[in-house]
Amino acid sequence: MSLAGKVAIITGAARGIGYAVAKRFVVDGAKVILADLDEKAGLVAEEQLRELGDATFVHCNVAERLDVRNLVAEALDTYGEIDVLVNNAGIVAGGDFLTLKEEDFDTVMSVNIKGAFLCSQTVAKHFVEKVENGGVPGCIINMSSINSVVAIPEQVGYCVSKGAMNQLTKVSALSLAPYGIRVNGIGPGSINTELMAAVNSDETKRKRVLSRTPMGRVGEPSEIAGIAAFLASADASYITGQTIFADGGRLPLNYTVPVES
Ligand SMILES: NC(=O)c1ccc[n+]([C@@H]2O[C@H](COP(=O)([O-])OP(=O)(O)OC[C@H]3O[C@@H](n4cnc5c(N)ncnc54)[C@H](O)[C@@H]3O)[C@@H](O)[C@H]2O)c1
Repeated sequence: MSLAGKVAIITGAARGIGYAVAKRFVVDGAKVILADLDEKAGLVAEEQLRELGDATFVHCNVAERLDVRNLVAEALDTYGEIDVLVNNAGIVAGGDFLTLKEEDFDTVMSVNIKGAFLCSQTVAKHFVEKVENGGVPGCIINMSSINSVVAIPEQVGYCVSKGAMNQLTKVSALSLAPYGIRVNGIGPGSINTELMAAVNSDETKRKRVLSRTPMGRVGEPSEIAGIAAFLASADASYITGQTIFADGGRLPLNYTVPVES
């Protein structure tokens, strides 16, 4: 129970990687706030996780400052404190670079990077206050992507936002280090969630992904959740400003690997 008694806010926790992180945190003894735009799926997630431990859904659009303020207030009302923030909510909007609409770029940036900034800043203010009152420093985990360092031409906003996420991790880690507050990122490769559904269900796209994946398979959300649990735990007490990539070997790969059908 490495997270026993800790209170964690996890954004985008109604499904996919966010839900897996929430589940792992609950199993490890944490009380979790599931923050998501999708109320229906969020309430289902809350019900499922309450069978394992303590979980509360809060409706929140991370791109909206007032929603984020309300999220933090609800977390404090419900559990009295916050120890961990996982900035996981993220979206994609595909389009060719030359014709991509301004609003599609803005939408992705507002959720993926402005949302992470708003949540980080609001929660960090609480963390700093806690430290100044003699409390234990909290930590922040940012869900980045391998697309923060490699790129997909038709995912302009997504790649740019994830590159920015790595810098948000570094900037906030440096700003908060004097308080003992740690900030780290996770950079998943291809993970088996609804976000990846279009790729997983199309044989050509699936083979293209696997030809770039030396381990020969996509990852499971639980494999990302394990890294989040480690980064949130005392075992990671001297790690800050880092992004850990979990991609089945994709980033070190030059050329491609053969794919069995
Ligand atoms: N699945 C992958 O292969 C993969 C790879 C690298 C990085 N990631 C990152 O992991 C994170 C989670 O991805 P996933 O695959 O689980 O996605 P997903 O689409 O399965 O789930 C994302 C969740 O975020 C919620 N959400 C979307 N916009 C929101 C907003 N404005 N405010 C609050 N919640 C919002 C959605 O309702 C959904 O529940 C994202 O940041 C994504 O970029 C995923």
